[in-house]
Amino acid sequence: MTSRTGESESPQAPPREQWSGQLGFLMAAIGSAIGLGNIWRFPGVAYTNGGGAFVVPYVIALLAAGLPILLLDYALGHRFRGSTPAVFRRMSSKLEWLGWFQGFICFVIMTYYAVVVAWSLCYMFFSFTIAWGDDAAGFFQRYIGMDRLGSEVGYSPAVVVGVAIPLLFVWAFGLVVTALGVSDGVERANRIFLPLLVLMFAALVVRALMLPGAGEGLNALFTPKWSALLDYKVWMAALGQIFLSLSVGFGVMLTYASYLQRRRSNLVGTGLVAGFANSSFELLAGIGVFATLGFMANAQNTSVDKLENIAGPSLSFITFPTVISQMPGGALFGVLFFASFAMAGLTSFISIIQVVSAGFGEKLGLSPRTASLVVSIPAAVLSFILFATSSGLPDLDVVDAFINNIGVVASAIIMCVVVAWVLRRTRLLQDHLNAVSESRMVGLWWRVFVGGIVPVLLGYMFFQTLWSYMIQGYDTYPNGFVMVFGWGMLLLVALATAIMTLVPWKTPVDEFEPLELEVTAEEED
Ligand code: ALA
Repeated sequence: MTSRTGESESPQAPPREQWSGQLGFLMAAIGSAIGLGNIWRFPGVAYTNGGGAFVVPYVIALLAAGLPILLLDYALGHRFRGSTPAVFRRMSSKLEWLGWFQGFICFVIMTYYAVVVAWSLCYMFFSFTIAWGDDAAGFFQRYIGMDRLGSEVGYSPAVVVGVAIPLLFVWAFGLVVTALGVSDGVERANRIFLPLLVLMFAALVVRALMLPGAGEGLNALFTPKWSALLDYKVWMAALGQIFLSLSVGFGVMLTYASYLQRRRSNLVGTGLVAGFANSSFELLAGIGVFATLGFMANAQNTSVDKLENIAGPSLSFITFPTVISQMPGGALFGVLFFASFAMAGLTSFISIIQVVSAGFGEKLGLSPRTASLVVSIPAAVLSFILFATSSGLPDLDVVDAFINNIGVVASAIIMCVVVAWVLRRTRLLQDHLNAVSESRMVGLWWRVFVGGIVPVLLGYMFFQTLWSYMIQGYDTYPNGFVMVFGWGMLLLVALATAIMTLVPWKTPVDEFEPLELEVTAEEED
């Protein structure tokens, strides 16, 4: 059972940036995976979708969809060694658009992701003095400018200075880190922030577990509501959570894997470690958040299920601050919580910028510095115009739902169908994964997941969501608003995709020769 890989890249291809080694890649992959999705989204999603019973669909979604797509992203990035448009073009000249589609999904995600990170940075400073006092809900409304909105939801151009200033910092950080390049910028930032994040968050969880009432909080999270398993929405929530949380299906892991050296890279081992590290952190966040909510319920002589605002931004920016003002040593707890939140967000944020910046850089022949400027400046402007205004929260809510539930899911389905059924490359990619990794565990099971189970599961989820958005609209938002921020944003992504696909390449993208593998007969099915 021997496989060999050979160095066969075309000499004309521009030199590609690389991680300093396997550990640098692993840390960046985990840094990208652990993000707002883990701290902000998971506890609320788990609680509202069956509590302890959510573990079942969550683990199934991780094993049946998350890890197979993570390995697919890794295999594509490593074998075809490029940004998303380059990788898909190298597989077929008719598929470059799929790479740009993923790139522009990332472009939109980064415009609002930055804003949530900016809020958390501000809240880190607010925590020193517990600035919200005993009215965390009113304070948050005033902070994001929602109090200036009329009763009818609609776009407001009034910029909120308190959001715009930290947002400027977040964009400057993203721009500088990605401009410094993959190894000097992105890798270094992850090497500093990731250990710090894990230490701070672990301290936070230990403190939370020592609070009176913590046990009741954990019971609330982990007591299974088995009937939830009969609800398809719970399964869809688990799939959506896994995709966002693992950063799979929209180009991030593909781009990161493309910076690995071309020989042995233990892709499978790294994928498994990254996947399980991400889920472990998610679980840790669930424990920390619910232990804290247990304390809050205890202090108010009520039970956790009677508490309000346990999902979405309210959990982090209203409920948590409320607890912080009630607990002894709350200021330090708040600083640690929001600093962890911001750090987790920043390391994911740079991974999302990197997808777009790599695409533009390769297509237009730009250095990392110029590519980062070309991408970050327009994205930052859009971010200010759309989400740093007093309608920022509703704008963000609608854009996030449409981009994630429709855009990312469509991108993952198309990627699976095209790779497995149109180009029939899953066997080749399976061999690639096995040849470069230390274990040869990727087999027929993986091809069945990528070509069958994942697209069927995601396809079902996609059509259910599409149908409900078309018939019922999204949440309680007015149709015109959803038309502009939801459907309109998807249309913009499609237009930008078409335009960038038509722009001619300034680098010899097609001269690339993939890493050739020799697989012995024993490895054939
Ligand atoms: N994986 C990142 C998150 O969880 C995008 O937020």
